[in-house]
Amino acid sequence: TTPLRLGIAGLGTVGVGVVKIIRQKANLLAQRTGRPVVITAVSARSKDKDRGVNLEQYAWETDPVALAQRDDVDVFVELMGGDNGPAKASIEAAIAAGKDVVTANKALLAHHGQAIAAAAEEKSCVVRYEAAVAGGIPVIKALTEGLAGNDITRVMGVMNGTCNYILTRMQDAGLPYDAVFAEADALGYLEADPNLDVGGIDAGHKLALLASIAFGTQVSFDKMELEGIQRISIEDIKLAADMGFKIKLLGVAQLTGRGLEQRMTPCLVPEESPLGQLKGGTNMVVIEGDAVEQVVLRGPGAGEGPTASAVVGDICDVARGFRYPTFGIPANELAVPTPATSNSP
Ligand code: NDP
Ligand code: HSE
Repeated sequence: TTPLRLGIAGLGTVGVGVVKIIRQKANLLAQRTGRPVVITAVSARSKDKDRGVNLEQYAWETDPVALAQRDDVDVFVELMGGDNGPAKASIEAAIAAGKDVVTANKALLAHHGQAIAAAAEEKSCVVRYEAAVAGGIPVIKALTEGLAGNDITRVMGVMNGTCNYILTRMQDAGLPYDAVFAEADALGYLEADPNLDVGGIDAGHKLALLASIAFGTQVSFDKMELEGIQRISIEDIKLAADMGFKIKLLGVAQLTGRGLEQRMTPCLVPEESPLGQLKGGTNMVVIEGDAVEQVVLRGPGAGEGPTASAVVGDICDVARGFRYPTFGIPANELAVPTPATSNSP
């Protein structure tokens, strides 16, 4: 059987996690996909950095675009991050060269997903990004595969582990924002630019991707109502607790008579509700559909193992030959969403 050959660009938290799983579970993955899944080449900025895994057997490319174009790469696995720059250039190069793409890059897809999806479909390539939304929770597969028979009515949830960690620790330990922020940093939850986390932007990127799949609309991050957690004080948290509520950075996407409503804002949720009980870096996504009614998915939203788990799941999809469009329906059939604004009638 023909092996599936991977080129992995980005050997940080997630990239190293993916290398470990592909090596340690070679037999299992071959059994599950029906073919060997092998790494042929890798890329990062520094060749000499000790990453805790032996990379000597793989070809090295310092330039991720060159990696994406290699003849011995079938799937380009982009794990560098960033909504522009090398991540965008190398994914575009991979697609132009007819390669399938697996990425964890929500920022890139929230801004350029439409163009990337269109380019991929033009070249009959697939783009998979399960790890981009809610880390280890297979929420994109739930929406595109398991729930394909539903008209989705609402998607909501807590999609940023850092914010949930900070808010929970402020609540439980009575610690100030700055101390808890430092803890989240030490746990490796934070994006390279932490404002993406605490400003609600990272969670907004994720919600925008889910809304596109759920409602068959073009990704519309720019039109989202967005507010971060930087202004939440211990006093706010205590006041909410006195009334039986917790404060969560909650995303809600739904189609209303006024158009597509997308909000990622701090909300009061009842303390005893599943969302109110959600602790630490855990994420929770609630999907409502006309046939299924309600599905609740809960799990780790970040970190090496959970995120690599989602990336490898996508790689297995490609190895098995699952080839559906990036956002579930063809890019040119995605509707332009009418954003619901607060002053709409
Ligand atoms: P890291 O910062 O840990 O790793 C980034 C990697 O990319 C590094 O190996 C770095 O090289 C490499 N890199 C950066 N720029 C270049 C470049 N110009 N050329 C070649 N290599 C480059 O990031 P993470 O692993 O945490 O995140 C990767 C992606 O996964 C991001 O899109 C992130 O948003 C997403 N993600 C991360 C999660 C997490 O829990 N960490 C969860 C869900 C998604 P070097 O090591 O040499 O500096
Ligand atoms: N910084 C992100 C979070 C990582 O805290 O959820 C996972 O996307």
